[in-house]
Amino acid sequence: MMRRICQVVLNNERYLANAGDLLLDWALTNGVELPHDCRAGMCGACRVRLVEGRVFGGHEPGDDMIHACQARIVSDIAIVTEEVPDPVALSGRVAGIVRLAPDIAGLTIEVPKPLAFLPGQFCKLSFRGYPARSYSPTYPLERRPDHRLLHFHIRRLAGGKVSSALGRDIGRGHRVRLSGPFGSAFLRRNHRGPMVLVASGTGFAPMWSIAVAAIMERPERELTFIVAARTLQSLYCHSALCRLAPFPNVTIIPVVDEPQSDFPAIRGGLPTDHLPPLSPDIVVYTSGAPAMTESVGRIARAAGARCYADPFVPTTTPAEQARARWAAR
Ligand code: FES
Repeated sequence: MMRRICQVVLNNERYLANAGDLLLDWALTNGVELPHDCRAGMCGACRVRLVEGRVFGGHEPGDDMIHACQARIVSDIAIVTEEVPDPVALSGRVAGIVRLAPDIAGLTIEVPKPLAFLPGQFCKLSFRGYPARSYSPTYPLERRPDHRLLHFHIRRLAGGKVSSALGRDIGRGHRVRLSGPFGSAFLRRNHRGPMVLVASGTGFAPMWSIAVAAIMERPERELTFIVAARTLQSLYCHSALCRLAPFPNVTIIPVVDEPQSDFPAIRGGLPTDHLPPLSPDIVVYTSGAPAMTESVGRIARAAGARCYADPFVPTTTPAEQARARWAAR
């Protein structure tokens, strides 16, 4: 049976594809370099913007950002990719591990040369003798950055192969292979309108990176930063947030599950309960628990706001572990 031919316009260049082709496979077999990693719709490395036409799968209704590894070409389409730093591989060493909260470690890796990444992107770390995991490099919580040092926030998981070894079998000097950067939930610097950041748990790391870069770029920027944690003790970011508070148009909303009578500034409930009214001129970034990032994305799309999400998908089965670099970030 003859397959229908579709036209694919990628960054203004014209190509042909068979209807039904998986977009990522089509790109790679036609010599088009699309960044990708997990091939499972999880990491976001392969996301491109669909500007015309339809694809089957790989995106939420109403969202024009599609996962090329999940999307099948079903019509003539036009897609665009964004300029991102090329992923590289580096060898580094653990330079320090500190306790940020009872369940969260701060990890510093020393690398031989600076890593080019966009605020909000993530890397894959392979500690010698351990499986790879993905974590987001972030701006230091208290000091100025040193480009030979990369900072990560890691939630300790009970039984987590890597996270539970930090500070025990993985200590200062431990060798680590780093690859990246990956991910599409990075700061879009050309946006001048209001910005909303929503983080839960260690999703704070990429959101903090975006917040700092956004304020350094435009100190008068209107920015709402919702930071959620399960408990007051897990809200490890207060000293960092104090650095943002003096900026005139920054609103910080810390949220924990239970309302705090001793700290009325800390709200109770879900992060989505505290979203400001959204509109098409607002850009939303969110990172952390998938249920939260999905809710934020849904609310943003319903309001016509652009949303970039980095869900931390947990590892639950051995099959998932094979592709589970995304766990426990
Ligand atoms: S390669 Fe498509 S989401 Fe990871």
